[in-house]
Amino acid sequence: MSRISGTRVCVIGAGSSGIASCQVLHARGIPFDCFEKGSQVGGNWRYMNDNGVSSCYESLSINTSRRIMQYGAYPMPASYPDFPTHRQIAAYFEAYVDHFGFRERIRFRTEVTDVTRGQDGSWQVTLADGTRVSYAAVMVANGHHWDPRWPEPPFPGEFGGEQTHAHHYRTAAGYEGRNVLVLGIGNSACDIAVETSRVSAQTFVAMRRGAWIIPKYFGSTPSDELAPERIASALPIPVLRWLFMRKVLAANGHPSDFGLPAPDHKLGEAHPTISSDLLERIGHGRVKVKPNIQRLEGDRVRFEDGSVERIDRIVYCTGYKISFPFFDRSLLDHAADNRIELYRRVVHPDLPGLYFIGLIQPLYAIMPLAELQSEWIADVLEGTVALPERQTMIADIAAERAAMERRYVASKRHTIQVDGPHYKRQLRLERRRHLVKSRGGAGLPGERELRAA
Ligand SMILES: Cc1cc2nc3c(=O)[nH]c(=O)nc-3n(C[C@H](O)[C@H](O)[C@H](O)COP(=O)(O)OP(=O)(O)OC[C@H]3O[C@@H](n4cnc5c(N)ncnc54)[C@H](O)[C@@H]3O)c2cc1C
Ligand SMILES: NC(=O)c1ccc[n+]([C@@H]2O[C@H](COP(=O)([O-])OP(=O)(O)OC[C@H]3O[C@@H](n4cnc5c(N)ncnc54)[C@H](OP(=O)(O)O)[C@@H]3O)[C@@H](O)[C@H]2O)c1
Repeated sequence: MSRISGTRVCVIGAGSSGIASCQVLHARGIPFDCFEKGSQVGGNWRYMNDNGVSSCYESLSINTSRRIMQYGAYPMPASYPDFPTHRQIAAYFEAYVDHFGFRERIRFRTEVTDVTRGQDGSWQVTLADGTRVSYAAVMVANGHHWDPRWPEPPFPGEFGGEQTHAHHYRTAAGYEGRNVLVLGIGNSACDIAVETSRVSAQTFVAMRRGAWIIPKYFGSTPSDELAPERIASALPIPVLRWLFMRKVLAANGHPSDFGLPAPDHKLGEAHPTISSDLLERIGHGRVKVKPNIQRLEGDRVRFEDGSVERIDRIVYCTGYKISFPFFDRSLLDHAADNRIELYRRVVHPDLPGLYFIGLIQPLYAIMPLAELQSEWIADVLEGTVALPERQTMIADIAAERAAMERRYVASKRHTIQVDGPHYKRQLRLERRRHLVKSRGGAGLPGERELRAA
């Protein structure tokens, strides 16, 4: 079945990024449909989400404080704690949708299975029931923390115990009295090592490099609120790093004081690992530190320092792949090695009308940035702001990529990094710099119709 919709913009996903786009489009009066494969909003923040792909575990709380994470247009309740639970976050997203009144624009239990480009530049969106709808633009907000990345290549040998990925971890039930090995030193690894260590016989945390462990608080201030945004966006990165480094060392000491490997990078050159509990659990001997796995040997694991431990369960906290199952590879290479070349991490220079919302890994929280990305793209759709020429976008993408590679540890987890306050400033400039003189100015296929709709 094929039909041309009266609406012009498609939003894929009603997680925190998709609903930010919906809110902005709704407020601007830009007609849109949002398709969500689960039966509720909130994506990753809905425990046991029936979309089948939430990575949320029972004990999860946000690690970016609520004032940093909240949308600009809708603050979190003042009664919320600094680091609310996933239930409070999901309730906040529900309240956001109801407050702005766009729930009826979201079609739940509706998966987008295919997105192709028509010859006229329109976008053909196919739903799981076979319905095909034509749109002027598509805002892709399908999330990037749902497709688990297992160790690549797999470790040699065979393991006789149970193995899982952080994506599938829900509670510490089943880990009681066991020897547990957690691999990685990102935020999933810290949370799961800490939690299992409260019930396990022994928890080990193994890693291929060290990390700076940032506490949730410096004194009584949430650590991400140390530098107010207007100061953080104005300060050069080395100055910010110096400021934070002093605080981290004062609060936690050096990681090597706890037997963790000394980080091979400066603070801010890797995605932040935030935990107020890991070092304490190491101090209590309930978490033991190991280098990377060398070989799996039945009910034992051999580590790179030659040590061997008997292990019952392994939890791989080895991160996520960026995936777009609804794009054919001929249209868009599926973010091989997590790389996808986008202008300001949103705009594909060769695919006009296709925008990626929330596809960022910020030193900050994703939500207010997804909101600002959506405001910018709404400007573009309305024709009040133009995008730069293709060549300018391509040159900028190359420069951004080179800067990211210079700064960050080489890892598949560092391909879409942004510094929150700096990135916000870039987006605000983007909204100002490219003002189209007349509303009939440069536009994308379908934009004239969009404005007329
Ligand atoms: C354990 C964990 C903790 C985290 N903690 C924080 C934190 O404290 N602060 C922070 O800023 N970030 C955190 N993150 C990052 C996280 O990605 C964001 O918080 C947030 O979930 C991103 O929202 P999103 O809408 O982009 O993606 P998601 O939350 O993944 O939502 C995507 C939505 O799209 C839907 N969808 C996907 N494909 C389709 C399709 N084909 N058709 C229809 N619908 C589709 C999904 O069902 C889902 O509802 C965390 C991530 C993890 C894994
Ligand atoms: N709110 C919260 O409290 C919370 C909790 C969990 C997760 N999160 C968020 O969720 C996102 C994903 O976090 P994550 O911790 O799941 O993943 P991640 O940040 O990508 O970390 C993956 C870890 O696994 C390591 N790793 C990957 N492949 C490996 C291999 N083959 N051998 C050994 N080590 C390997 C990585 O090391 P390298 O650095 O060397 O690549 C890194 O330490 C992040 O944005 C994070 O902030 C938030």
